[in-house]
Amino acid sequence: MKIAVCPGSFDPITVGHLDLVERGAALFDQVILCVMVNGEKHPMFTPEERLEMARAALSHIPNASAEAWDGLLADFAREKGACALIKGVRNGIDFEWEYQMAQINRGLLPELDTLLLPARAEHLHISSTMVRDMIRYHQTLDQCMPAPAAAVLQRIREGKVY
Ligand code: PNS
Repeated sequence: MKIAVCPGSFDPITVGHLDLVERGAALFDQVILCVMVNGEKHPMFTPEERLEMARAALSHIPNASAEAWDGLLADFAREKGACALIKGVRNGIDFEWEYQMAQINRGLLPELDTLLLPARAEHLHISSTMVRDMIRYHQTLDQCMPAPAAAVLQRIREGKVY
């Protein structure tokens, strides 16, 4: 069984992230989206909220699931028996960073390869940073967030003020 992990902050999950998991699910037997802690970032949503939105977004993909992990990515991949990481690249800056991360993760777990998938042209401008701004300024999220995740977000917002 070929298992891939799709790691990230997912703060929140975007249509670009969903596209990655859908494409990964067509290539691997199982894809596990992993909601992680990025030490460089101050998230808008808690790990539990990010996980709930991700799970809602993936609910139509039978061989995809989502989990949260507060540790080293390579340890999560080892625990799951994953052979690959899936990351999206929108531009050269993403590539430079993901190339470095791929080397680091392969150094930590030699059997773990990284698959870099080019973002679809229509998703090139979409990022979690941009979605957070859309949320802050109460803009419509139809184009940038999967609808089931936006529905979870709506419930979260009803109990919270940003
Ligand atoms: O969506 P992001 O913020 O670009 O995802 C980055 C993330 C969370 C995948 C990365 O920061 C990460 O892997 N963090 C976990 C700690 C880790 O394993 N770091 C790499 C080796 S030092």
